[in-house]
Amino acid sequence: MPTTAQSAQLSDTETLYLTGFTLACVTVLVRTFDGEGAPLIACLALSGMAFAATYAMIRWLGPTFIKAGLKGRDLSKVNNNHYIPECMGSICAVVYILTMIVFIPFPFFKDIVVATSGGGNRDVVMNVEFVQLGRLLHKFPHNKLASFLSAIISLHSITLLGIGDDLFDIRWRHKFFMPAFASIPLLVVYFIDFGVTSIVLPTFLQPYLGRELFDLGILYYGYMSAFSIFSPNSINILAGINGIEVSQSIVIALLLVFNDALYLLTPYPHPATDSHLFSLYFLLPFLGVSFALLIHNWYPARVFVGDTYCYFAGMVFVVVSILGHFSKTLILLLIPQIFNFVYSTPQLFGLIPCPRHRLPHFNARTGLLEPSVTTWEKDKQPRPIIAQALRLLAQFKLLRIKEDQEGRIEETSNFTLLNLWLVWRGPKREDKLAVEITVMQALLGLFGLFVRHRLALLIFREDNLNITSAV
Ligand code: UD1
Ligand code: MG
Repeated sequence: MPTTAQSAQLSDTETLYLTGFTLACVTVLVRTFDGEGAPLIACLALSGMAFAATYAMIRWLGPTFIKAGLKGRDLSKVNNNHYIPECMGSICAVVYILTMIVFIPFPFFKDIVVATSGGGNRDVVMNVEFVQLGRLLHKFPHNKLASFLSAIISLHSITLLGIGDDLFDIRWRHKFFMPAFASIPLLVVYFIDFGVTSIVLPTFLQPYLGRELFDLGILYYGYMSAFSIFSPNSINILAGINGIEVSQSIVIALLLVFNDALYLLTPYPHPATDSHLFSLYFLLPFLGVSFALLIHNWYPARVFVGDTYCYFAGMVFVVVSILGHFSKTLILLLIPQIFNFVYSTPQLFGLIPCPRHRLPHFNARTGLLEPSVTTWEKDKQPRPIIAQALRLLAQFKLLRIKEDQEGRIEETSNFTLLNLWLVWRGPKREDKLAVEITVMQALLGLFGLFVRHRLALLIFREDNLNITSAV
């Protein structure tokens, strides 16, 4: 009978560090009220507080989650006879959403408290009473507030879906389109506020098509909602070893932060600065809650993240990239996820049987992970064309295949990037595999950004980072 084991108490050292850190963050936050308010600093301070709150709550609420049945067994451990809390990503999502709600006034502090005569002049200083009387309300950036609120609604909806899935294990066909619903508020705001649906054509195509831009129209919205389905699910299926869901999300978020920071360093007002600032406001608290989760979910995991975290993380990326107008850049940062999805399709679409779990197989004798396999009975062989395709993949080292002496397929490795990595690199300890996949994600992402800002100049006339003040 599996037992439950989880310490809910923070140690004295942990309590000391967390309290000190929170107090430092509160002090920084309070100081931002001097002057015009510094939203980015306030956001950093709130992110620190979100980290501390998530860290403590994961510990305090672990046993409560187990009692409520939200628990799982770590399948890749020798002693996997005890339960650890599952669905801890819901704590991240809730702390995150509350943090973002508390943060709402900060980016608008200047607009609420001080009204300017335009162009950044502070010659006319109005107090908040006038704003409340409605006299300067037309100056308030309602569009930015709408972006902010629509992002929160989308994240709320996806969190509901995630928690529902963790509670009831919702079927694929029922939950598949839900993220697209969650993205509707984003698309509405995108339509009203930005509305660009054209893509820049590469310079070598322009003479033939006689134009620089190609308008995708309504298809662009289809692409964005498809993306909102893809991103959360792609993180959920690149999973199964301790820490990997969170570490890949942290790497993607850090790369996005790096990309945003590039736009902050350009001379203001750069047309893209505000949207990248918006992205930072949503990514920093995400990093705060994610690091707190990673500490508990890293090998050997003391908690599981649940589908809630994967959907929520994927949706954070969708939100910032749609409202920040860089959804194509995000694609470059999701290359391992795209590969894992494309590689998984034979199992996802039922061409090849897909077991409930495809995570790597733990060899208790060696303590190492090996590729997990799908077994084929003698009388239940794949159709000849599929068998041919499987052998071809094996020849290109894209699959491990075991055949009997009569050439019948006995087993094939499961179609996930984690298993393929083990096929390529041999059996590995769980944490080593997680580190290698995370480093690969980071390197490919950095290369993606390099392509985005440098190599793109080979086929496009300019990179938008170099556009100064087009407005
Ligand atoms: C997805 C994958 C599934 C994989 C699972 C692991 C697809 C289509 N689905 O399913 O193949 O097995 O994620 O998360 O690719 N677990 C561990 N160690 C870990 C993480 C998870 O043992 O490091 C186990 C635990 O028993 C945990 C369970 O996996 O309770 C969670 O699985 P869940 O997230 O519900 O699986 P799916 O997202 O449906
Ligand atoms: Mg999952």
